[in-house]
Amino acid sequence: MANDLDLPGTGESYWTHGTDWTRFAPLTDDLSVDVAVIGGGIAGLSTAWEAARAGRSVVVLEADRIASGVSGHTTAKVTAQHTLIYDRLRSRHGAEAAALYAASQTDALERIAATVGELGLNCDLERLPAVTYSRDPAQRPKLEAEARAAREAGLDARYTDRTGLPFQVAGAVRVEGQAQFHPLAYMLGLAQDLLARGGTVHERTRVTSLREGEPGRLGTESGATVTARDIVVATHYPVFDRALLFARLKPRRELVVAGPVDAAADPRGMYITEGDGKRSVRTAPLPDGRRLLIVTGEDFTPGTGSAAERFRTLDAWMHEHFPVEETAYRWAAQDNDPTDKVALVGPLHPGARHTYVATGFGGWGMTGGVMAGRLISELIAGRPPRWAGLYDPRRLLPLLKEAPTLLAQQAEVAAHFVGDRLRAARHDDLSAVAPGTGAVVRTGGGTYAVYRDEDGAAHVVSARCTHLGCLVAFNDAERVWECPCHGSRFGVDGEVLHGPAVRPLKRRGPD
Ligand SMILES: Cc1cc2nc3c(=O)[nH]c(=O)nc-3n(C[C@H](O)[C@H](O)[C@H](O)COP(=O)(O)OP(=O)(O)OC[C@H]3O[C@@H](n4cnc5c(N)ncnc54)[C@H](O)[C@@H]3O)c2cc1C
Ligand code: FES
Repeated sequence: MANDLDLPGTGESYWTHGTDWTRFAPLTDDLSVDVAVIGGGIAGLSTAWEAARAGRSVVVLEADRIASGVSGHTTAKVTAQHTLIYDRLRSRHGAEAAALYAASQTDALERIAATVGELGLNCDLERLPAVTYSRDPAQRPKLEAEARAAREAGLDARYTDRTGLPFQVAGAVRVEGQAQFHPLAYMLGLAQDLLARGGTVHERTRVTSLREGEPGRLGTESGATVTARDIVVATHYPVFDRALLFARLKPRRELVVAGPVDAAADPRGMYITEGDGKRSVRTAPLPDGRRLLIVTGEDFTPGTGSAAERFRTLDAWMHEHFPVEETAYRWAAQDNDPTDKVALVGPLHPGARHTYVATGFGGWGMTGGVMAGRLISELIAGRPPRWAGLYDPRRLLPLLKEAPTLLAQQAEVAAHFVGDRLRAARHDDLSAVAPGTGAVVRTGGGTYAVYRDEDGAAHVVSARCTHLGCLVAFNDAERVWECPCHGSRFGVDGEVLHGPAVRPLKRRGPD
């Protein structure tokens, strides 16, 4: 992306920048396998790898490039500390649920560490404490309660008011023995081992249809089909959403900035705040001995407000608190928050026998995706692990408890559906949209998403999201269209960048 908005850093993830990608051919011929996995992010690759390890024939079908989705734009902390989850789990679902959550996420963390050793992956895996902190003294009781709950759930957790951060905190929960890594190096290593085990990967292969059965069948854009005994939907937002999971998932986009610091300025830990004004901090090793400070925050619902302004705010925070020489990178990505804060991993819908889904990692998909891979491959083998019920997308009791959040979320979606239509500006002359900007306009009886490029050409597509019809809005920092209802993203010519939408925005001719 050109940096003509005067934003700091190259608009690319540090992980994907300079990565030596492996290229896999698109699927052109029909294929039959034991397990077909749709989506080559951490969840899909982990599931495929676990299934191949268990002796199954496996294919991964990836719409773009493997590891290039959210998993290539993460901060890659590998931890069972997911801000303030344990006290909530214990009070809403019981001590057993909290213990299962801790055990399953720790199992994933240790699976990653063991895999790195076994495959000899050079992915900068570092063991560090994970710290959730607050600078607000009013939050101390919450942090103390979380430290107690996390310890009771089985983590090596304690309350403290001392951290390696260069500013005073009011209180913090510190969990020992957690980790961080280079996510692409890990995922590409996993893919190589998958191939060595006889698995196959096809990139630029968007799956467009799913027919359940024994076997099930997938259709792809090229017309080639895949038949498989078991099918896993690991597309981040589930594209074949037969249980209407979208109503239980709220997309949250996050921004990231990164720049080098001297090793002496490394806060030596993985830090995060909870709630509004979120900040997440970690570092990664650089070849010259310095550390790359990575700061995440400024969450927002896609399609709302100015992403460019938020990038500037986040960047200013980083420079205010750390001696960063220059912002080297900036990037953004989104994850889905489930209404009850627990990922949805298991059968795709109540009647599903051989179709599975892995989604709703709520900002914690590194351990979550690896946990999902283990869980689904055990379900396929008919040996559900003891935490299968906790993550089961069909869970009912939590659904009742999450009803208020669910209703609030649907009210927000309804407000976008109606309100955004009323707010769309009426323009009869599309030239009112300045070069390098985009706007939703009502003209000639239709509502259009209009982007004018730097050369003055207008790119005009329908503003109606092809998922469920909400109006898209322009993201000024990334120059894409975003849907505020469930987070679909589209290029300026309407192409799908991120689901749940699977069809492009309808093209309208240039003005
Ligand atoms: C800014 C940010 C920071 C984060 N930091 C952390 C962190 O520190 N620790 C942590 O644990 N988690 C973190 N997370 C969360 C974590 O990155 C995600 O939960 C995780 O990467 C999601 O993985 P995934 O495999 O579900 O999705 P993805 O990586 O997006 O993979 C899904 C894949 O499916 C493909 N696809 C979609 N539709 C189709 C189709 N129809 N056919 C074929 N393929 C398709 C996509 O192209 C994509 O490659 C962070 C998230 C964000 C946004
Ligand atoms: S993503 Fe659901 S309506 Fe747009």
